[in-house]
Amino acid sequence: MYLYPKWIRLWHVLNAILFIILIITGLSMQYTGKKDYVLVVGFEESVRWHNISAIILTVNYIFFVAGNIITRNGRYYNIKRDNFFSDLFKQLRFYSWGMFQGENHPFPVTMERKFNPLQKISYVLTMYLALPLVIISGIGLLFPELVVDGFMGISGMLLTDLLHITMGFFLSLFMIIHIYTCTLGKKPGSLFRGMITGYHATEDHYDLEDH
Ligand code: HEM
Repeated sequence: MYLYPKWIRLWHVLNAILFIILIITGLSMQYTGKKDYVLVVGFEESVRWHNISAIILTVNYIFFVAGNIITRNGRYYNIKRDNFFSDLFKQLRFYSWGMFQGENHPFPVTMERKFNPLQKISYVLTMYLALPLVIISGIGLLFPELVVDGFMGISGMLLTDLLHITMGFFLSLFMIIHIYTCTLGKKPGSLFRGMITGYHATEDHYDLEDH
């Protein structure tokens, strides 16, 4: 099944590379400088590379949103309320129990259903909540004149910074869990191969009749 057209693969590889650079430079900014300690990259260099990568990531993000509006890929991100929690529970149960018992995936991939319920909710929260928040707070840190002076007696810059690092933390956590769940295809490498070739291997596809 051809599930990952070229534009998604292009967006995704750039996004992943930029994320890695942003995490390394973000952590370097946080830890470098204390008692001459340098974590991977010096402070000034970290700031420069963090800003450059963030600007490219933002443009790439706009490309992702536009792509999902223009093409039919956006439909995979529509969350339906019907059976939302029970479907999520089924998928969680599969990841924590069923797959170790050799059960079949409860939501096999089809052309109409690229993501299982857990993938869908985590991708929606990541792409349409956490990423916009990290981008908006990042713009605030880059242009402090845009940030309100204070809110309920707390400095606006402090709140913006807190939002930025909290979202950055969750996104880093997402990436680790995401890479792990991407190893849970039929074979550990099959989903990664799909993101390179564009094709979700049919061996990962369980016939609906099996269920
Ligand atoms: C080295 C880092 C990464 C690797 C190896 C990786 C791997 C993959 C793989 C194999 C898939 C296809 C399987 C699937 O559909 O779930 C995928 C899809 C996806 N990944 Fe990643 N990923 C990485 C980083 C990221 C990051 C940082 C984000 C977002 C912040 C992200 C967001 C997504 C999204 C939204 C999809 C679905 C795209 C679509 O088909 O519409 N990934 N990733």
